[in-house]
Order: sequence, then C-alpha cells, then structure tokens
Amino acid sequence: MHFPSVSVHYLAMFFILVIQVLRDFPSVNMPFEWLVQLVPPLKTRAFSISSSLSAHPKQVHLTVSVVTWTTPFKRKRSGLCSTWLSKLDPELCIFVPVWFIKGSLPPPPPSLPLILVGPGTGCAPFRGFVEERAIQSATQEIAPVVFFFGCRNEENDYLYRDFWLSHAQDGGVLSETKGGGFYVAFSRDQPQKVYVQHKIREHSERVWKLLSEGAAIYVAGSSTKMPSDALSTFEEVISKESGAPREAAVRWLRALEKAGKYHVEAWS
Ligand SMILES: Cc1cc2nc3c(=O)[nH]c(=O)nc-3n(C[C@H](O)[C@H](O)[C@H](O)COP(=O)(O)OP(=O)(O)OC[C@H]3O[C@@H](n4cnc5c(N)ncnc54)[C@H](O)[C@@H]3O)c2cc1C
Ligand SMILES: NC(=O)c1ccc[n+]([C@@H]2O[C@H](COP(=O)([O-])OP(=O)(O)OC[C@H]3O[C@@H](n4cnc5c(N)ncnc54)[C@H](OP(=O)(O)O)[C@@H]3O)[C@@H](O)[C@H]2O)c1
Repeated sequence: MHFPSVSVHYLAMFFILVIQVLRDFPSVNMPFEWLVQLVPPLKTRAFSISSSLSAHPKQVHLTVSVVTWTTPFKRKRSGLCSTWLSKLDPELCIFVPVWFIKGSLPPPPPSLPLILVGPGTGCAPFRGFVEERAIQSATQEIAPVVFFFGCRNEENDYLYRDFWLSHAQDGGVLSETKGGGFYVAFSRDQPQKVYVQHKIREHSERVWKLLSEGAAIYVAGSSTKMPSDALSTFEEVISKESGAPREAAVRWLRALEKAGKYHVEAWS
C-alpha cells in the first residue's frame, strides 16, 4: 500500500470561477440557462495525508496552503478549494465529502534510511513519516532520517516549526546524534534565493553516506521545477562525493529509482 492522499470534492462553490471571469468581462451578457450548461463539473483536489495512523488512529490531518495568484488584469485571486477549506468553521459540523486514494509515496519500513525533500506543503507526507518513526522508535531500532525543508520566510510560513525542531533534538527521529538531520532553506529572508538544493549541497557528505548505506529518497512539493532541480542536485552531490563522472551519477540515480527507492509526489 502506498502512503495515501485524500481527495476533496465540494459543490458549494460550483459557479465561483465562472463568475470571476464574467466579472472581468462585464460586456458578456449570458442567460443563466446557458451558464448552467457551459459550466463543467468541478474536479476533485488531492491532499497528502500529513499524519500517522499510529499517532492519530481516528484522525486524518491535512496541510493545506491557500493558493493565491494575480490575474493578467492585476486582480488578486485565490484557489477555490484551498480558500473554501480555510473558511470552514471548526465549530460548525460541516459535511466535507472525501475519498481516500492511493498516493505515490510508499510507506518506508523502519529499517530504511531516508532522505526527505519537502519544501512548503511538500512537508505534509513527511510529517506523517516522522510521527510514524517516532512511535516505532519506542519499540525497535529505526534507521536515520534527514529532512530538507524550505519555505519563504522564517517568520511567516515555517510550517510545524516546533514539531520538526523537537524531533531534531538529541535522540529524536531527525537528530544528528541518531545519524539524521533537519535542514531548512528560507528562500526570501535574504537578497539571494536559498532553496532546499543549497542545503542538500551543504550536507553533501552526509547525503552520500546515507545513500551509500542504502537510503531511499522521497521528494514532495508544489513547485513545478523543484523535483527536477532536486534530482539534478543529487546527481551533482553523488558525482562530487563519489568522484565518479556526472553520467555515472545519473545512472546511479536511475538504478535507485528502478529499485523503488526514489519517489516523487509533486503538484503545481
Ligand atoms: C497528489 C497530490 C497531493 C497534493 N497534496 C497537497 C497538500 O498536501 N497540500 C496542499 O496545499 N496542496 C496539495 N495538493 C494540491 C491541491 O490538490 C490543490 O491543487 C491546491 O490546493 C489548489 O487547489 P485550489 O482549488 O485552491 O486552487 P485552484 O482554484 O484549482 O487553482 C490552482 C492553480 O491554478 C491556477 N489557476 C486557477 N485558476 C486560475 C485563473 N483563473 N487564472 C490564472 N491561474 C489560475 C493558479 O496558478 C492556481 O495556483 C496536492 C495535489 C496532488 C495532485
Ligand atoms: N502569501 C504567502 O505568504 C504564501 C505562503 C505560502 C504559500 N502560499 C500559497 O500557497 C501555494 C503553495 O504553497 P507552498 O508552501 O506549497 O509552496 P511555495 O511557498 O510556493 O514554495 C515553497 C518553497 O519552495 C521554494 N521554491 C520555489 N521554486 C523552487 C525550486 N525550483 N526548487 C526549490 N525550492 C523552490 C519557494 O521559494 P520562492 O517562492 O521564494 O521562490 C518556497 O521557499 C503557493 O503557490 C502560494 O500560492 C502563499
């Protein structure tokens, strides 16, 4: 079984997107019946499950960012489903239809060393992984976990800061004393962008050591370019640390993927 995602469907905001377009173009005078025929059904939205079933047997946690963008007409817009979810009142009992679908990240066995790369909401599945490992560590030996996280600013969108930091302390799942690590890239806290790739390069020795010991790589996140940039950084790191040419590093990572030890779950 792969680490699952939740798919959310909602009907209440069926017309909102079309209404936004009609507002941008007020000269379009469309009869309501035409509108109903034209509007396609809303697609469902997938969300990675960000909790471990062992830690929260009767709950499913999601980590959702409210998506925002500016239209060519310079209007601020926000994503339909993420905005709707953010406005739900937890005090009210609201029915949200959800489905569980198979995700693309298989749950790792406790003995498998892990290199996790999850900027932004990409941290969602890895919060579940770390919770699961923390529970497993009470009764058995667990392999090291290194997590590369990234966000825009330390002050504004450092998701689950206390959670990661507590697991990175001595003896924790992400602690260096246990062979793991937790490294954060704040992309907008200085004039030059700093991304997870920079942190992977900074810790190239540790990354190569874990890979040599049989680690699997998991990459998740919302940026379109991030997964390919991360892959190319791993190629660079493997080539540098092993002393092999870049082509050999590319083949090495292909073999890792074939062996079911390089996983990506990305969305944009
Ligand atoms: C496997 C998987 C796992 C995922 N896990 C997570 C997760 O854990 N957390 C999370 O937050 N998200 C996750 N997502 C993304 C999530 O499914 C949604 O895509 C996201 O929440 C945005 O949905 P929305 O309805 O709010 O935005 P939408 O309304 O669908 O808009 C999304 C994007 O479409 C573009 N867009 C839409 N309309 C316009 C327009 N009129 N003009 C210009 N651009 C437009 C914008 O670029 C915008 O960013 C995941 C996706 C997948 C496939
Ligand atoms: N308004 C806000 O403060 C805010 C904050 C978070 C999210 N959001 C909304 O929520 C959506 C999803 O958010 P998210 O948190 O999952 O993602 P995100 O904030 O868009 O990205 C997460 C981190 O990844 C960085 N990044 C961008 N391209 C990268 C690349 N090629 N390689 C490595 N890292 C890269 C981003 O840096 P840069 O973006 O600096 O390049 C950021 O630091 C966003 O697109 C946005 O619409 C808004």
